[in-house]
Amino acid sequence: MCGIVGILGQGPVAGQIVDSLKRLEYRGYDSAGVATLEGGLLTRRRAQGKLKNLAARLAEEPLAGSIGIGHTRWATHGKPTEVNAHPHASDGVAVVHNGIIENFRELRAELIARGVAFTTETDTEVVAHLVGEQLQYGKTPKEAVAAMLPRLRGAFALAFLFEGEEDLLIGARQGAPLAVGYGEGEMYLGSDALALAPFTNLITYLEDGDWVALTRESAEFYDAQNRLANRARVRTEASAFLVDRGNHRHFMSKEIHEQPEVVGRTIAHYLDMSAGRVSLPFELPVDPAALDRVTIVACGTAYLAGLCAKYWIERFARLPVEIDVASEFRYRETPMRPNGLTIVISQSGETADTLASMRYAKGEGQKTLAVVNVTTSTIARECDVVAPTLAGPEIGVASTKAFTCQLAALAAVAIALGRARGALTAEVEARLVSELIAIPGLMAEAIKGEAAVAQIAHQLSRSSDVLYLGRGVSYPMALEGALKLKEISYIHAEGYPAGELKHGPIALIDEKMPVIVLSPSDQWLEKTVSNVQEVAARGGRIILIGDARAAAEADVHLEKFIQMPDMAADFAPLVYAVPIQMLAYHTAVAMGKDVDQPRNLAKSVTVE
Ligand code: AGP
Repeated sequence: MCGIVGILGQGPVAGQIVDSLKRLEYRGYDSAGVATLEGGLLTRRRAQGKLKNLAARLAEEPLAGSIGIGHTRWATHGKPTEVNAHPHASDGVAVVHNGIIENFRELRAELIARGVAFTTETDTEVVAHLVGEQLQYGKTPKEAVAAMLPRLRGAFALAFLFEGEEDLLIGARQGAPLAVGYGEGEMYLGSDALALAPFTNLITYLEDGDWVALTRESAEFYDAQNRLANRARVRTEASAFLVDRGNHRHFMSKEIHEQPEVVGRTIAHYLDMSAGRVSLPFELPVDPAALDRVTIVACGTAYLAGLCAKYWIERFARLPVEIDVASEFRYRETPMRPNGLTIVISQSGETADTLASMRYAKGEGQKTLAVVNVTTSTIARECDVVAPTLAGPEIGVASTKAFTCQLAALAAVAIALGRARGALTAEVEARLVSELIAIPGLMAEAIKGEAAVAQIAHQLSRSSDVLYLGRGVSYPMALEGALKLKEISYIHAEGYPAGELKHGPIALIDEKMPVIVLSPSDQWLEKTVSNVQEVAARGGRIILIGDARAAAEADVHLEKFIQMPDMAADFAPLVYAVPIQMLAYHTAVAMGKDVDQPRNLAKSVTVE
């Protein structure tokens, strides 16, 4: 994950920037750079590889200047070369960037048509040119950034440095975190509080859509409509702890909000963004064309990620998927063919049943691919191939960001299997890839609905039972919604395939029990709508999570409607995960429960 640091200092800042970038090394990166103003002019040093290479370059050719920005880059668009390293510069501006500019291809084409020459393969360079153009038109730096930001789609954080502006840094946030730190006559920008810990523990976190203009004495915050905004200063514990809750009350909340960034990072790890195709960061341990089935094994939320993957693999790769929870699978003595593929999924990589199942599959001669978040874990060490999720440490016991990163990795694996088996055309793959690239931005959009979701959660907290319904790939999400809710609020919740309603659970419907229906505009919409009508006909309390079309087609009284962004539905689970996580979180908070450490649960279940 990339890292951003900006400093408005009193003395030379390049060394300080490199030192504070070191605190972000744990996020992973493959090149780094820094830009300062020397006599008002922009100067940059960049280096491929680790920060020691950048430090060595700075030792050979030092950078003076008491204002600067720095970056550790984790390559998404373009190789990790010096040329692609940030900061990128154009016409009086330098910029560093975390995240993904989703619409960079169209912006790049537009700029090229206006005669702009590109020197890098990055998505970031479009930002430098767009701001540079505005400066050329005579806009001030603040006006230029304000005019440029609405052009960008995606989830990102940005920091800008301007030629001739010795007392100005601008930062912007949309879906990826950015914080301002306050010093004595100094001011800082950082992609997380850890980077700023050596300088200050007084921090303001930008809200989504915010941008900020910093001088050594002031911080002016603007919201997405360019209105001046008041943003609170908080004291952070980042200097004492490696992981910090930021301005969130609980780790779970922070982890929900981190999703656009970490899912973006995971998606980028599995795609060749510039070519618009999947590019797995490993060799598959089997010949996909020779497979007759795939087996998936996992526990809890990781199992539900696997259940979503079953829909994707069967549809995209035309390959049957057998899936089971690990505690059952390990003792079923299921016969397995040598050289088949078993996928295990585990955030911790230490879950005893999942590990035992993987060992069983290996014993049967299967090749094992492990989707894990902790790449030093036992499962990661023992499997044939590691498919990493780049969620970063997940502290809340209820899995959120690890789950959506598992979905991202599995979606890419499903597409790769489809291509390798000749089941997907290049055209369909390109469409699916562009849908994946849009996901972080859509998740950020969904997070914006939090206040409304929190109100609904308040009412939910008075229920004793909740039913979640979904069809197709929304069925595993119904199970996940119910699991999340019961885990942290202790409300009894069940998830059902909507089509099973008539076969039993419909008996439960009354005016007391909330029925939460997940209904993206997918190929199952019409059928899900019929089930909504069945619930309505029995006086049920319907909470619909869907887009405007789903609400219109339902055409019944909805007690509540959580409106989701319009999107292609193939990867809807990644976006619909957001409201179900927020519903569980706010319900538990309203009930005063211990959200991060729910009773009886452990983060890593290393016993049977
Ligand atoms: C999720 O919210 C749970 N706490 C739990 O179901 C978890 O997903 C399960 O125990 C599997 O853990 P793992 O991903 O570390 O293997």
